[in-house]
Amino acid sequence: STPTPEPTQPKKANPNADPGHPQGKALTTSQGTPLKDTDHSLKAGPRGPVLLQDHHLREKITHFDHERIPERVVHARGAGAHGIFTSYGTGSKICSAEFLAEGANTPVFVRFSTVAGSRGSADTVRDTRGFATKFYTGQGVFDLVGNNIPVFFIQDGIKFPDVVHAVKPHPDLEIPQAQSAHDTFWDFVSLHTQAQAHTMWFMADRGIPRSFRMMEGFGVHTFRMTGPDGSTSLVKFHWKPKLGVHSLVWEEAMLTNGADPDFHRRDLSEAIKAGAFPEWELGLQVFEDNEEQMFKGIDLLDPTKFVPEELAPVTMVGKMVLDRNPSNYFAETEQVAFHPGHLVPGIDVTNDPLLQGRLFSYIDTQLTRLGGPNFSQLPINLPHAPVNDMLRDGMHQTYIHEGIAPYHPNSLDGGCPFMAGEGGNMELPFIDFPERVAESVKERANPVSFDDHYSQARMFYRSLATVEQLHVQQAYAFELGKCASETVRARQVQALANIDAQLCAAVAGELGLPVPEADTEVPDAALCPSVSQLGGSWPVE
Ligand code: HEM
Repeated sequence: STPTPEPTQPKKANPNADPGHPQGKALTTSQGTPLKDTDHSLKAGPRGPVLLQDHHLREKITHFDHERIPERVVHARGAGAHGIFTSYGTGSKICSAEFLAEGANTPVFVRFSTVAGSRGSADTVRDTRGFATKFYTGQGVFDLVGNNIPVFFIQDGIKFPDVVHAVKPHPDLEIPQAQSAHDTFWDFVSLHTQAQAHTMWFMADRGIPRSFRMMEGFGVHTFRMTGPDGSTSLVKFHWKPKLGVHSLVWEEAMLTNGADPDFHRRDLSEAIKAGAFPEWELGLQVFEDNEEQMFKGIDLLDPTKFVPEELAPVTMVGKMVLDRNPSNYFAETEQVAFHPGHLVPGIDVTNDPLLQGRLFSYIDTQLTRLGGPNFSQLPINLPHAPVNDMLRDGMHQTYIHEGIAPYHPNSLDGGCPFMAGEGGNMELPFIDFPERVAESVKERANPVSFDDHYSQARMFYRSLATVEQLHVQQAYAFELGKCASETVRARQVQALANIDAQLCAAVAGELGLPVPEADTEVPDAALCPSVSQLGGSWPVE
């Protein structure tokens, strides 16, 4: 049989250039021509006018004029760090991804973020935090694009523009919600009661973390894993911080915002600089992959629901250590492009309709944010695996591709690239799980199991220690107190009545509103965990 050719990396545009930039000691133009003066424009005499022919002036200013790229439409403010993920091997029975094999070391880049604020906003605001990890595995990039809260506001990607419009600054004066008006946020979550569980988590202390180093991370959605024997499982991803989970109290958060708006960013980089490398363990909750995709009454495809660890323990599969700060914020933290569809063989998506919406959204927004279709060639996004795609040309193409037949199959170019499994070189499990969908009817509808909007908010609230419950009451009273609309305030208090009578009474009392009765039958969640979700049994060092 014909020997299998190694996949070749395309050539970079300038093979003679050092990878680093700048090169040489002399200051040059972008074309490499040495410059004599970069401090004065070329003028007709010392008093001007300035001449249009001064190309150096125009090049310098033009480039500066275009230094900024659009900030992310959400999660614009972030901080990143490099590290290494070491696998324990405990996940390799259920997942054939090579980076989960025992002892495998995989480089990672993590970006932590707030959701609502712009790039220059403050760190210690009440918000959900993003926790996105890029694993540069030998089988391609795997991105785990999660948050520090295990549930989400909405159940369907089509609602994402709505929820984001509601949490962003009001369009008239662009005053952020966190400082002033809160009308649209409370309007949204009281009208879309599916958002009540997430709202409860971020009214709790989780909404104001002490440090990125002290946050849990959650993949939120349920994913599917395929083991080496072909068997499949449904899983939820968890990051557990070695330092335990800690939060600020509201007054600390406010003071910190004023004194050091970069508090979390500084904390992360200083810890790494000092050698106190932050660590997390990666864990999995594993569920049987059956047709219902339910676990003890919890719909695993509903991203507003989590599964308490008392019902499904988390098995640790590896450890991540962040040990290197970025050397250039723009090149790394700003240009990194995560995507929940960056998967490796052994890990697949499920039909969670929120996840399905995300699969479209990230690449779509990155086409604009990163200026065209070639952003996977940026150093921070470059896979640490051979790339032999048939994607060609486009804006900001930096490769010089060779050959004449970028299509498959072809009989030219000295051998067509093999597909996985062909030619005996890459016996990889097929990445797309052959799930049955053909009997379905096309419709815009949710399963009935998505209708319970309150039981998990109740379960979470009742799991908290008394002092944490007090913080939740104070947070609702404070934040809802900023909402100008009486109708909206009353509607949200009604939602609280459906969650917990004591919480509702405390908040309504603070706001001077009548205490309503519950108007919805709320099923009791499968289990109210007795251990506080804050910290749990994780050791604090
Ligand atoms: C960005 C998490 C839902 C659209 C991000 C980031 C995180 C994240 C961590 C920041 C990535 C970075 O640091 O570069 C999540 C989680 C979700 C969720 C955990 C739900 C469980 C959605 C949905 C959509 C969406 C439903 C749209 C349908 C976006 C977009 C960005 C983003 C457009 C900006 C990406 C970029 O410019 O690079 N998300 N997200 N997200 N998310 Fe989500």
